[in-house]
Amino acid sequence: MVNASEYDPDEGINLHTEFSYSGKWPSKLIFSCLKTPSTDGETSLGDCRKMLKLLDPDVVKEFESKKIKYIRNLHNGSGFGPSWQNAFATDKREIVEEYCRLTEIDFEWRTNGNIKLIQTRPAIRKHPVTTDKIWFNQVEQFYPALFKKEIYETLLQMNDYDETELPMYSTFGDGSKISMEIIKHIQQLLEQVTVKRIWQRNSLLLVDNMLNLHGRMPYKGEREVYVSMI
Ligand SMILES: [Fe+2]
Repeated sequence: MVNASEYDPDEGINLHTEFSYSGKWPSKLIFSCLKTPSTDGETSLGDCRKMLKLLDPDVVKEFESKKIKYIRNLHNGSGFGPSWQNAFATDKREIVEEYCRLTEIDFEWRTNGNIKLIQTRPAIRKHPVTTDKIWFNQVEQFYPALFKKEIYETLLQMNDYDETELPMYSTFGDGSKISMEIIKHIQQLLEQVTVKRIWQRNSLLLVDNMLNLHGRMPYKGEREVYVSMI
């Protein structure tokens, strides 16, 4: 169980499905609230089926046929974002390599000890129980041009203006660029489908990770909401 309130309270956490960029993801998330914040801090939710229905059909068609290529560059101890040791909870390269082989992630160790990970995944999946088609990906979270301008510029400078060397990046599965226009369209719909769930102390929230996106609104005061994934 981890605290779902650990990031900066002044910033919200955008809607996302957990680990939908990877080959393994939790089917359910169980949130529990031990302390409500003095203001706001709701858990936000959004319907993955509704997202798919609202998206421009041409955009859906393109994602469906091309899929998404997710690229991660994890550093060896110092840098932006998590190190590979943190991300994989080990300092043994062979454990990382075995995980990558099992989950179909291409990996490349770099001379500086960093690792590049590339995985191509569907953008749209079928729910195993309801059989509904769902928007199930994290493409906009792998789009560094959405970071704060100074962070994005610094990252680009540090990586010789090669976006594929940034900590996270995504293209269509065939390597073609995903336009900012498409990403803005997705973002706008994520806002449109957002509903907010106000917390009461000692209450539980069960989320089907494939049917619903989740996030967190900014808040003031202390907030203790824990999440378990199964
Ligand atoms: Fe999450």
